[in-house]
Parts: sequence; structure tokens; C-alpha cells
Amino acid sequence: MYQLEDFNFYNKRVLVRCDFNVAIKKGKVVDDFRIVRSLATLFYLKKRGAKIVLMSHLGRPEESEPTNKKSQSKTKGLSLRPIQKKLEELLRVKVGFSAKLKGRLLEGRINRMKAGEFLLLENLRFDQGEEANSDKLAKDLARLGDIFVNEAFSVCHRQHTSVYLLPQLMPHCAGFNLVEEVEFLSKVRDNPPRPFTVIIGGAKLDSKMKVIDEFIIQADHILFGGDIADVILAVKGICLGCSWPQQDIAEKIKKIDLTSSKIHLPIDVLMSPDRSGDNYIRCGAPGTLRKEEEILDLGSETVQKFSEIIRQSASVFWSGPLGLIENEKFTQGTLGVGGALNRNKGALKVLGGGDTVPILKKHGLADGFSFISSGGGAMLAFLAKESMPGLLALGYKV
Ligand code: 3PG
Repeated sequence: MYQLEDFNFYNKRVLVRCDFNVAIKKGKVVDDFRIVRSLATLFYLKKRGAKIVLMSHLGRPEESEPTNKKSQSKTKGLSLRPIQKKLEELLRVKVGFSAKLKGRLLEGRINRMKAGEFLLLENLRFDQGEEANSDKLAKDLARLGDIFVNEAFSVCHRQHTSVYLLPQLMPHCAGFNLVEEVEFLSKVRDNPPRPFTVIIGGAKLDSKMKVIDEFIIQADHILFGGDIADVILAVKGICLGCSWPQQDIAEKIKKIDLTSSKIHLPIDVLMSPDRSGDNYIRCGAPGTLRKEEEILDLGSETVQKFSEIIRQSASVFWSGPLGLIENEKFTQGTLGVGGALNRNKGALKVLGGGDTVPILKKHGLADGFSFISSGGGAMLAFLAKESMPGLLALGYKV
């Protein structure tokens, strides 16, 4: 398996697969975390005089809202143009943009680039071949470059053209961030210092279920918050007011040994009939939830109980917020647990997914982590030991 340091990039056309799938509002990037994580590789390639061609997807065009004109509906709001602006700001150089993903004109433009210049291609998923893992698109893209660099760990769980087939057609290596992701997440997955605690919150139940199976074997403690805690409480029959999960999720939960002493569920929660919390917020045992109410955060006793477990842990992996953090009134679970992690200076601490990062940053609690993963679904797939086509294509034995 090759590293960036193994290549001479001078005047070479280098295709860099990034993950610029970031939050954009009103045409502006509002969370540049993933872009920032690719910068070390991009500066490295610039310094070594590569002609740098950047490729990424953004969103899921096939699933976007239909309008009258079909072709427009699939691309609306998903152009990488706002990313070009952000990159120029972060790289402090001009970044060219190509609306085309292939063709002779584009090839000519790339051939004429000077050493150290950047060109960003439009959203790869605007070509249906990307998600279809198309040979034809892979060959078209391969004509644009001499070397392929994958700096998109967060999409390595997808068997898509630019992630899986393209590297197989060209000399290739992993970017600095991808290497770091694999290194840190492997530590958590394969040999975590003990006691090892896993904290799981947030939504996206389907991808969370996969890791629970794995962690029930590997971890010493699993602390649950957010939607996933509610559905487990419902399946256990503790919280009759919690909404019953989809049948397939309920079936999966039933297969977990819910009596295991490793599993820790909220013992008190914040409940309210509305997400604004304007009407009233009350704290109580989850079993007291009324029909008109929703669980929106952890209660202080739960925070205390979770904090004590964290205090005694030698390694902790955390994925997903523990309450409705969009509303400041429901952040005590997430911030309480963030504080407990901050106080445990000696542990290996890995934080995953993007949602929790901004709020921890805002409250000065994001600095003490050993590693913050840029992956959401990819990180969970990696930890659950699922197949990672993007890593296999680079030569990783995972
Ligand atoms: C992510 O945001 O997790 C990655 O960019 C992958 O996106 P996807 O789930 O749409 O493939």
C-alpha cells in the first residue's frame, strides 16, 4: 500500500477524491470541518508541484425534491460551486471550476494546468455512473489524471466509481486524513484500552444498530441517549409512551441481550409536549412519559451516572448527540457527557460524526479528544467490520 510520500508529484495530474459533502445554506458553506480535514493533503500536493484535480459528491441528487423539469430537480442546490469559494478562502489561492466531469475539452484544460494549480470538478453524483459503479465513468475519469489520491474516508463504505473502480485503474495512495482515520478507528475497534465505554446517541437508527451488535461483544459499557435510547426503552417495555420503532429495527433490538449489565439506559429524562420547550419541561423517569410528550434530553441523574462510568474508563468512543441539541434547552446531556470526557485526561477518546462537534466546540469541550472522525456512516461501517470498498481498493486489509 502506497503513501503520499512514495510519489513524485511534480507536474503530474493528481485526482484527489475528497468528501466535500458538507452543510450549505443559502449558497454558503456553514460547516467546513470535512474540507479543513483535507487541507494537509492539498497543501502537500501543491508544495510538490502537482496539478490538483479535486473530485467530490454533495448530497444525494437522485433523492432530491422533484420539480417540473426533471434534470433541474436532480441537481438543484447540490452544485459544488459554494465549495470552490470556501476552498479559495482556505487554500488562499484561486481554484478553477469545471461543470463537466469528462471529455476532451476538460482533458485539455487539465493538461494545460500549471504545477501547484487547483481545479474542482462538479458534483460527481450528477453523473448517474458514479453511484452505479460504472466502468465507463471510471475510464473517463482515469483519463484526467496520472495518480489517484483518496482523501475521503467518509465515503469509503460506498462501492461507487470514484471510490472503488477509479483507484484500480491508476497508481494510487491514501491522503493524510484517511490514513489517520483508519489508524485511530482501528485502535478503538481492535484493541481499545480497558475499561472501554461506547456512547451512542443521535438518530439514523439503522446504521447504529450495526455497531451495537459489535460493541455488545467488544465494549465494557454502552451508554445510550437520543432516539436509540427511546426505542430500546420502548422495546424493553419501560417507556410505554415512547413511539414504537419500525418493525425491522424492533426485531433487531429484540435480538440484543437487553439484560446485559453492559447496557446503560437513561434513568431520568427531560420531557416536553413541544420541541421548543416553551410550554413546559419536566424531568422524570422515562416510564412516566405521557402520550402528548416527547423525550428531549437526559436528566441530571443520568448525566451523573454516565459521568461516573466515563471517569473510570480508559477509552471512550462517542457517536451522536444525547438530546435535541438544536435547542439550547436540551443540551445538558450532551454537554454533561462532554464535560465528563473533558475531565478524564488520560483516556483515549474518539468522537464520531459531525452533529456533536459544533456544540462541543461552542462550549470549549472539543479540544480534549484524541481524535474526531470525519466519517458518519463510514465510521460506523468500519467499526462494525463491514466491507469498505474504498479501503479495499487502496490495498487495506480490512
Ligand atoms: C456522509 O455524509 O456520510 C458521506 O458523505 C457519504 O454520503 P452518502 O451517505 O450520501 O453516501
